[in-house]
Amino acid sequence: MKQNPFLAVDILTADQFTKENLQLVVRTVKDMEKLVLKKGANDILKGKIMTALFYEPSSRTFGSFITAMQRLGGGFIPLQGVTYSSVSKGESLPDTVRTFANYSDIVVIRHPEVGSAKIAAEFSSKPVINGGDGVGEHPTQALLDFYTIINHFGKIAGLTITMVGDLLNGRTIHSLSRILSQYNGVKLNFVSPKLLKLPSELKSRLELHKIIIYECEKLSEVLSDTDVLYITRVQKERFTDLGIYEKLKHHYIITTDVLKNAKKTAIVMHPFPRVGEISMDVDNDKRALYITDQMRNGMYVRMALLKLILLP
Ligand code: CP
Repeated sequence: MKQNPFLAVDILTADQFTKENLQLVVRTVKDMEKLVLKKGANDILKGKIMTALFYEPSSRTFGSFITAMQRLGGGFIPLQGVTYSSVSKGESLPDTVRTFANYSDIVVIRHPEVGSAKIAAEFSSKPVINGGDGVGEHPTQALLDFYTIINHFGKIAGLTITMVGDLLNGRTIHSLSRILSQYNGVKLNFVSPKLLKLPSELKSRLELHKIIIYECEKLSEVLSDTDVLYITRVQKERFTDLGIYEKLKHHYIITTDVLKNAKKTAIVMHPFPRVGEISMDVDNDKRALYITDQMRNGMYVRMALLKLILLP
């Protein structure tokens, strides 16, 4: 690949990441990791400004984008919870995005509505990164999840990856499965209560690829064959009937006892926040990567993306 395909490009969906351009992303992420471990920071993005426009709560996406920009010498406009911006006076998304595109070089947006990042990109004069649009997608999380898996195993093809929990509303699942489905021979298990199954439209899209898909309700059916156990929380904020949420919220709880039936070589991931799906005693299991590699990779991946989008 001769040119940087991400230069000045919006990142709206995980479908933009192909097997070919993912090689460039992986190389750049490794460079960023080396940079942070050796020197902590540099100034390649000095003079560049990122707006972090977050209409929904966030710890990891917001925090890692901010630190990613700082570690590369850039500045940022932090808008987390938009209470103190003119959004609280009723300003529209297009007007808000156009405003901050005037002040900065790139806009990262998180918004509760599916398609909001695409709308933002249509109105923005600067590149837009989707930091999560409702129950739609979360492409940068998918990238860090993908990187965590490939960095650990050195491959994707041939792995059995089991995604558990709220597959209907979990945007990280939607985006990650889109990336993984490009790799022949990968097996994706989707484990959820019946009410929280993967959206049928996404399942149909995945089925177009040469991968194996298996859906079930019991984790015990697939756990012993699993290489990557990817747990998600049931997303309370997406439920109109909180009674149903209460019934489903702890449908799956990963404990050290549950993990006795998992491979010694398996890894456990979670995009976080967790609200009881993984008991804290699991944190000390060496297979648990969610607080270590997975979170740190979020920073390296976002550094890599900012570099690729902002520099030729
Ligand atoms: N994984 C993730 O998106 O976390 P935050 O909601 O804290 O950003």
